Amino acid sequence: MKLIDGKKIALKIKDEIKDQVYKMIELGEKPPHLAAVIVGNDGASLTYVGSKVKSCKQVGFNSTLITLPENISENELLYEVDKLNKNNDIDGFIVQLPLPKHIDENKVTLSINPNKDVDGFHPSNFGKMALGMKSFIPATPFGIIELLDRYQIKTSGKHTVVIGRSSIVGRPISILMNSKGKSGDSTVTVVHSRTKNIKDYIKSADILISALGVPDFVKKEMVKDGVVVIDVGITRVIDENSEKGYVIKGDVDFESVKDKASYITPVPGGVGPMTIAMLLKNTLLSRSINS
Ligand code: GUN
Repeated sequence: MKLIDGKKIALKIKDEIKDQVYKMIELGEKPPHLAAVIVGNDGASLTYVGSKVKSCKQVGFNSTLITLPENISENELLYEVDKLNKNNDIDGFIVQLPLPKHIDENKVTLSINPNKDVDGFHPSNFGKMALGMKSFIPATPFGIIELLDRYQIKTSGKHTVVIGRSSIVGRPISILMNSKGKSGDSTVTVVHSRTKNIKDYIKSADILISALGVPDFVKKEMVKDGVVVIDVGITRVIDENSEKGYVIKGDVDFESVKDKASYITPVPGGVGPMTIAMLLKNTLLSRSINS
């Protein structure tokens, strides 16, 4: 078994970005500027957004964190988005999901200027991605593609099984991996809560990408020998023995599956750090689009 060290690769990518920012500054250009909007007080979302902002500093980007109350109206949030769309100092921005139930996420996503949509969630970017055109690619799938590529894992002609069909991970990674291009040309099956005989599909996977959010769902007996496992799950599980009161668990029972896998990502330290690195990469790209 080979461990896919997302933390190490993410650090390398951040170093590459830092070098590019340094060159921009030497040329007298302003560093890229990422803004992040967070609504409410969800602990996990606050942690993720905090990490995104901290990473901006590490690579020399400017960053702005906009914290809005849980009870903000949809119109007030749309007004904040519009201000970011019009602010020439901001190259790219994200609105952290999920949003409170009284706000229509689709309406918010549609209101973001596609040229500043560094999450790649706007239909214009998502559509371009699906058509193989240049676009912002959502950070988590982008990170998975990058990991497979940097570890030189062959995807062409392989059977990839994706567990979960979310707009953020399952659906975009399924599109990317069956498209032509980097880490592509795979035969992809997407399984979800309504799939019959889900275990049969999982057992036939050469590459298994799990984005389900159910801790330890994938067990040793469910996978075939030599499988490549990409675990996107990051669920907080209460653990009174840990300092924070919780531990982060992936979808895959790592200890049992690792002996059967040819490659496997750990949780934490696998896909998570890559998501942030690729968001920074998209922000660098937004800089060249908007200047
Ligand atoms: N919530 C979980 N992942 C993401 C992400 O990549 N971007 C945003 N905006 N919200 C998220």
